[in-house]
Amino acid sequence: MLHSTVIDTIGHTPVVGLRAGDYTGVEVFAKLEMQNPFGMKDRVARQMILHARKTGELTDGAPVVESSSGTMALGLALVGPPLGHEVHIVTDPRIDPLTLAKLRTLGAAVHIVDRMGEGGWQRARLNRLDQLMRDLPGAYWPRQYSNPQNPAAYEGLAQELLDDCGRIDVLVGAVGSGGSLCGTARALRERLPGLRVVAVDCVGSMLFGQPDEPTRLQSGLGNSLFPANLDLSVIDEVHWLNDHEAFEATRRLAREQMIFGGNSSGSVYQVLCHLGGCEPSGTRVVGIFPDRGDRYHANIYSDGFWDQHRLAALPRGEQPQLVSPDTPVRSWSRCLISRP
Ligand SMILES: Cc1ncc(COP(=O)(O)O)c(C=O)c1O
Repeated sequence: MLHSTVIDTIGHTPVVGLRAGDYTGVEVFAKLEMQNPFGMKDRVARQMILHARKTGELTDGAPVVESSSGTMALGLALVGPPLGHEVHIVTDPRIDPLTLAKLRTLGAAVHIVDRMGEGGWQRARLNRLDQLMRDLPGAYWPRQYSNPQNPAAYEGLAQELLDDCGRIDVLVGAVGSGGSLCGTARALRERLPGLRVVAVDCVGSMLFGQPDEPTRLQSGLGNSLFPANLDLSVIDEVHWLNDHEAFEATRRLAREQMIFGGNSSGSVYQVLCHLGGCEPSGTRVVGIFPDRGDRYHANIYSDGFWDQHRLAALPRGEQPQLVSPDTPVRSWSRCLISRP
């Protein structure tokens, strides 16, 4: 397939069938967003930058500034420079060395905050970003957590799913900013009004009413602040997994399906396996797998890291425990959300 630039290769990722759950006739598929040049957020970077250029919010040659711990940063570093924009990424010490090396090699300036304040690392990063906006005249901040172009970027993903799968009964996706799951779900529901939407979060994230624990080890999904792009009204159910369960599921994803992903793909896989075992025969379930596993080699895939953080000592649920909205959870749990 011939493309004029690498940016044109974003999207049209494969959908693959999984043998997940108890093989009761439930059809389970994974949308491999990890097969974008860097990951799922390449779509968002392209959409936000092109839209801002069109509206004039981003002028020729102006810098782009964003807070990100990985996939969003890589997407912007991929799309910004070829269009003439220097990219500044604000992140925190949890950034992995591989992503840091990639960002710097792609030419992005990386600003690492050194301590978390109230509101966790997220708040500390936003404070630094405010400072950069003052220091860099004309800088454009895409604001992935509130920019409507973040969810809008997934209209393309939804169309690809409709083209490839036709009918979908359940959509499963990890939530960080809310853009991918809510954007895909809203676009799909225009054609599939009966679609059920299942969100995947981590223990220690406040997105769905749990107490915030900024020391959680999972990255990508979860948040310490509530993002405007998370539209709870499109979500039917949420699952939380703790770090042990998420990392274990990610290793299992590689072992069982030959898919080497990050922890959000692993957590989505865990939920897909559950649905594969309990949904009625003929149900078609699709999960979104955001990024590849390489950058997690020193945590998810490292026995030493597991030992150091005593991950195996954390509880591990065989099935999700059904809880009411205000119940604090420590291991795999799920909660039904009543939609308006
Ligand atoms: C690896 C990974 N998984 C999942 C997510 C969550 O996606 P969203 O921000 O669209 O909710 C992110 C977000 O950055 C991510 O980087």
